Amino acid sequence: MSNITSELKEVGIVLGGSTPSYAPVQLRKDVEDSVEEQQLAIVRDDKYPGKLFTGVLRGIRRLDPILRGNVRTPYVEYHEYWSQAYPEMSYTNVYVSLCSIIDPDNKRIENCRIAPHPNSKVYVMTKEASILSKIEEAIRKTVQEEICVGEQKYSGLKLPLNAYYARCHVGVFGATGMGKSRLVKALVDELVKNYAIIIFDHTGVDYTPFYDQIVSSKDIEISADVLSSVVLDMARLDKNTYSTYMDVACIVFLKQLKGEKVELEVGRRAFRIENSVEDPLEKFIGVADGVMAALGARDTTRAKARLFLNEYMDRNFVVEVVTKRKKSPEEIVQQALKLKGKSPLVINLGDDTEIAVKRGIMYDIISAAWEIVKENRKPLNLGFVIDEAQNYAGEYTYPTNRIIETTAREGRKWGLFVILASQRVSRDISASIRANINTVFFSKLQATGDLREISGFLDIGGIEENDLALLESKDFFVAGLMNPLRVPMLLRVREVP
Ligand SMILES: Nc1ncnc2c1ncn2[C@@H]1O[C@H](COP(=O)(O)OP(=O)(O)OP(=O)(O)O)[C@@H](O)[C@H]1O
Ligand SMILES: [Mg+2]
Repeated sequence: MSNITSELKEVGIVLGGSTPSYAPVQLRKDVEDSVEEQQLAIVRDDKYPGKLFTGVLRGIRRLDPILRGNVRTPYVEYHEYWSQAYPEMSYTNVYVSLCSIIDPDNKRIENCRIAPHPNSKVYVMTKEASILSKIEEAIRKTVQEEICVGEQKYSGLKLPLNAYYARCHVGVFGATGMGKSRLVKALVDELVKNYAIIIFDHTGVDYTPFYDQIVSSKDIEISADVLSSVVLDMARLDKNTYSTYMDVACIVFLKQLKGEKVELEVGRRAFRIENSVEDPLEKFIGVADGVMAALGARDTTRAKARLFLNEYMDRNFVVEVVTKRKKSPEEIVQQALKLKGKSPLVINLGDDTEIAVKRGIMYDIISAAWEIVKENRKPLNLGFVIDEAQNYAGEYTYPTNRIIETTAREGRKWGLFVILASQRVSRDISASIRANINTVFFSKLQATGDLREISGFLDIGGIEENDLALLESKDFFVAGLMNPLRVPMLLRVREVP
């Protein structure tokens, strides 16, 4: 035991007032300028032989018995007399946020339910200490499905994360450029061993270049309601007047493309909408006009629709709907399930510019997965990666927010889960979605208040805004179910090329 601690750096002793989660510590004079917050600490209490407390150093405070914070001192004015009057008496206190007790000989780890005694020695972990591998092994025994995305920043401890809890949903938050997308990629590369993964690549630059299983969003079928909202937007038609007509027109149009004949019944009359034109845009305009006539639209309303559709609709878009978008959302899900254990399936949404189309495709794919679950009543073990989640999971990002919410709330039982990454928490992710996220990786945050927001749905163990200010790119705290230790750990994410 003593040879284990001889490899570590002794930094101080425990003071009175410790609890099972908190141990105040006074630092030795020779180390007080080199100790940093978030370092991994080991407390050795001789009253518990064979066991070591582990935790994280926090709350560095410089103190002085004479120059006390709330007492007036004459040395403000007579600074030069200070060193003549008093020897150096200042000291530095920290505290250890205790997470567990390990038994290094038997490589066992348990939650900390006892408090270390005053005068116990405190060490910080050094890289290459032999106890590191023993701690790793002890933690590994408590983890069901182990993955690793990086090391604890100061000690190099390769923290095993519990992949089993990925199914309870994961959030990744941090300011721009902190490395969220890279962290998500590192997570996906590990999770794909146990789960099928579909990555929605919002811009097509974060994931598409790194994988070879890619589906362009332009190859995926879009549903009638999505087509309708895009048509209304593109052709600048007023939603109040035209949304019913276009909804029906889009259903009829897509059915006709599949060779189905469509009859409309209005009142007691039935209409058949025939359209034999070849040019896709003209074909669509023909169907829209036919539907409006059947539904009893006025001549002026019809004339405006014809004119605006002709003038403003993007012809290429309609051509693509007719010629390219053939892959059904269900096929996509099946394809991803087949790739389980090998590779994630990336949907390159960057190929579409209309946000309504991106959202529509995401909605249809996640819905297709739910359909499969409802039919088979068996867990799918399928995760959806949603980067730039502000576009999909916010309060007003209909319809994706609904399906993401359902997945976050009820997906766990069916092995359906989401990994959301975004710069902000409170505005980007709707309240009902974030309440169901059980693991969070967070770095320096974009807005003050976001940390409070995270602490509203997850225990972040006393981490404060100023702890985040010093983080560099690739530094992320991990908190929640996937972290096997009860204190948030500062990870340095591994190099993701
Ligand atoms: N783990 C890593 N390995 C290698 N490089 C990294 C890593 N993390 C971050 N970087 C570097 O930082 C850059 C930004 O990373 P990334 O795109 O993941 O940030 P982000 O947080 O997703 O930013 P945004 O919010 O703008 O999407 C990368 O281009 C890369 O150069
Ligand atoms: Mg990113």
